[in-house]
Amino acid sequence: MISEFPHLIDLNDYPVTWWNGLLDLGEKILQNPALYANSCKGKLMGTLFYEPSTRTQMSFQTAMLRLGGTVIGFDNPLTSSVAKGENLKDTTKIVSNYADVIVMRHPTAGAAKAAALTADCPVINAGDGGHLHPTQTLTDLLTLKVKKKRLSGLTIGLCGDLYNGRTVHSLCKAMSCYPDNHFIMISTKELRMPSYIKDAIRAGGGTYEETESLEAVMDKLDVLYMTRIQKERFASEEEYLAQKDTYILTPKKMQLAKQDMIVMHPLPRVDEITVPVDDDPRALYFKQAKYGMYIRMALILTMLQSTAKTELLRGKEHMGVVCRNEKCITHAEPYLPKSFTGTGTTLVCEYCDHRLLLEH
Ligand code: NCD
Repeated sequence: MISEFPHLIDLNDYPVTWWNGLLDLGEKILQNPALYANSCKGKLMGTLFYEPSTRTQMSFQTAMLRLGGTVIGFDNPLTSSVAKGENLKDTTKIVSNYADVIVMRHPTAGAAKAAALTADCPVINAGDGGHLHPTQTLTDLLTLKVKKKRLSGLTIGLCGDLYNGRTVHSLCKAMSCYPDNHFIMISTKELRMPSYIKDAIRAGGGTYEETESLEAVMDKLDVLYMTRIQKERFASEEEYLAQKDTYILTPKKMQLAKQDMIVMHPLPRVDEITVPVDDDPRALYFKQAKYGMYIRMALILTMLQSTAKTELLRGKEHMGVVCRNEKCITHAEPYLPKSFTGTGTTLVCEYCDHRLLLEH
């Protein structure tokens, strides 16, 4: 299914040259934001946030306001018609009548793609459940470009909830498309990186290793990307408590790291980085959040100027086959066409990337 509009659902739907163009624009805006103060005058952005957010929502809003545009939206679906039972399709359709671009965050994997299927304007994925978070990745890429001066040849430690953390999923998919990047995945056995992301790293030409010890690998890292244990994505409080506090970055552990290593975190932090680490010049997470605003200015501008169409569904329906990921949007919004890529006995859900094996 081809949409008439450009959408950003997954960064990997675009070539690396497109990301590089955005990063160049983001850097130009960062150097002289005033130049862009009227670039989106008369344009309106709709922010549909079905899940809590501080940075992503506010950085999108300030980005649009700093481009001279305006903003409508909700940050609590219970104050909208969603509380009356309105489905995702109808809400998106209506808001796309009012807005020139929609930014959506949703607790369910594949929601942004589902929204893009019906929207009459571009849709930007601001996080879909534990699946992807492409605009956080753009933020991370801009931070790396400015602070490390390169996007290749890096050893990147990813630490924490690698299973549920959408930011590390998108980051790995993107960074493996630049040459010679090596990922060190630091997590408990329960919270390991999903295999579809590891496959994407291999396919992109990247390499990875897995470990349970942060201290053991600290001295190898050029970048340490810390993440929060994603409490809201656990089936029970008990399972969450068993994972909480496993990895805590302290000034003492920072002594093991290279002098030019940088610490990144998409935020919010809970307790995985102690507050004294903030005073270490290598702690970049607050700066990183600011870069998020500049790259979102570049993204909004680009999406509003583009006339590109987007291929949203490439695969096909298979008689009686449904996605087996219970957190997939196709279960919450049953009218959606089920669509799978893949051949033979392995199918891949086009909304949430979940794989299913067909039995014959
Ligand atoms: C992240 C998210 O929402 O996935 N936050 C963000 O957008 N900066 C990370 C998180 O919630 O842990």
